[in-house]
Parts: sequence; structure tokens; C-alpha cells
Amino acid sequence: MSKKIIVIGSLNMDIVIPTKTIPAIGETVLGGEYMVVPGGKGANQAVAAARLGGSVTMIGCVGDDIFGNDLVKNLTENKVNVQYVKVMDKVTTGLAVITLKDGDNSIIVSPGANSFLSVDMVNDLEDIIREASILVLQMEIPVETIQRSIQLASKHNVMVLLNPAPAMKLSDDFLSQIDVLTPNESESEILTGISIKNVDDAKTAVDFLNNKGIKQVIITLGANGAVYNKGSEIIHKLGKKVKAVDTTAAGDSFTGALAIKLSNDIDIDSAIDFAMEVGALTVTKKGAQPSIPYLSEL
Ligand code: RIB
Repeated sequence: MSKKIIVIGSLNMDIVIPTKTIPAIGETVLGGEYMVVPGGKGANQAVAAARLGGSVTMIGCVGDDIFGNDLVKNLTENKVNVQYVKVMDKVTTGLAVITLKDGDNSIIVSPGANSFLSVDMVNDLEDIIREASILVLQMEIPVETIQRSIQLASKHNVMVLLNPAPAMKLSDDFLSQIDVLTPNESESEILTGISIKNVDDAKTAVDFLNNKGIKQVIITLGANGAVYNKGSEIIHKLGKKVKAVDTTAAGDSFTGALAIKLSNDIDIDSAIDFAMEVGALTVTKKGAQPSIPYLSEL
């Protein structure tokens, strides 16, 4: 029987504009042709895990509008269970405005319905959470909901994977309850105060986070691979070199891929190899969910 993956998190519609120049304050620039595509870190991770063969349930909120309707439909088409995605009255669906310059993105998220994913809602789903092999979280929903979700998962010995994006400072108590953490360089800096300029800095940050009680820390470094601990050993691994056209959702597909492998007790080296390949393929295509690969493409 396939292991159950639960993702508690955000669903956003992404409006993406390619540009040669990121506008300065007070400036208007003309960009290229825009795209409207399904995104949101939570939904991206759910879609990644589902496309890679996982049995995935999404817990989240959308507004009662066209975007919300499209996002739920899209998750269903990707075989994600949407039974616990709540449609909220009189609230807008999460929206991300993304500028894309030379393959790299800058993102502003208007959380909308995502900010209504409440502690009560996850409390009501305790019986669903307890059946999971792994609970996957990110940080585009209220922090108290994330905290409560982690407590519920820990209570039932469900592995907790947190992708701390967008990052904020977290207490030691909060960090100590996480099993697997997948920050990128800038998120690691916010969490640890260690500025990551090279692989050695990343190794120091992994050690710092391990010492906070997080069993498995993986810092993703984009084109420079990832640094992670294997027990007490800290390892740097480089991935495939690819031509990046859009890095959006690379971290999300990495996290979704990792969730599948770790929930199936695959060793950390093989799990990272798989997740890095998925992340690398994601950057070769445009858009968040349109770029996330299927198992058959690997
Ligand atoms: O990680 C990429 C995602 O961040 C985008 O899809 C956007 O919606 C924001 O949540």
C-alpha cells in the first residue's frame, strides 16, 4: 500500500511576467508575455509528490472565486485528494505576482484564503493527520496553524518535513519538533544568522540546525547542489548541470520528491539524488506546476 503524504499549506494562482529589468520604486517597465499558472508552495509540493507516484492529501483553503475553482480542479487532475481543501466564502484565493528575470524569480504573495487555514481546522483533521507517513509543511499559512500541525503529527509519530519558505525566525522549541528541514541559502540565513557564501558556511548552518534538535537538515544551494547531514556526517552533493529557464517551484518539487523517498524509508543519499534530479528538471521549464516533472520523465 502506498504511504500517505499529507501537505498542509498554501494554494496560489501565479501571475508571471518575464522582464529584462526589475522595476525600481516609482519606475514602470515593459515586460514580456504573461502566464497565469497554478502555484502556491503547498500545492506545488503536493503536485510534485503526486506526479512522482505518491498518495497525497492536501489540506488548505481557497476563495470562492474562479482562481480557487481552477486550483482545486487542477489538484484533482493531478490525483491529489482535495477533500480537505476548504472553499471560503467572501475571501479571495491566494495570488502570487512573480517577475522572472534571466530564469530567476522575485515573488510577492497575497495570501487571501491561505491565511484562514486555522488551528481549529487542523484540530478537526487530527484523525486524518495521524494516518500519514509524513506531514509536509511550508510557511505561507498562519504560523500558529503550522505549530499546531507539527504538534499533532509529533503526537502520532508522523514524520514532519518543513520547507521554511518564506522564512522567519523560529524558536528553538519550534525547531526541535521538526524531523526534516529543507531551507535554501537565504532561508538558512534567517533561521541561523549564518550568512551562506560558500559550501563551508552551509555545512556550519547544517550543524547549527542539527544542534537545535532537527534530525535531518538539507540546505539547497540552487546550481551548487545541496548540503545535508547523514547522521553526524555533513555532505555536499552537486546535481546535474541544466540550463535554467525558470527556477520557480524548484525547491517545492525537491521537497515533494524528498517526501516520497523519506516516507518510504529510502536512505538519505538516494533520496537527495532523486530530489535533486526532480529539482533540476523543474528549472528547465517555465511556470510553477507546469514545470514539475512526472516520474516517467526522470
Ligand atoms: O515556490 C514557488 C511558489 O511560491 C509560487 O508558485 C508562488 O505561488 C509562491 O507560493
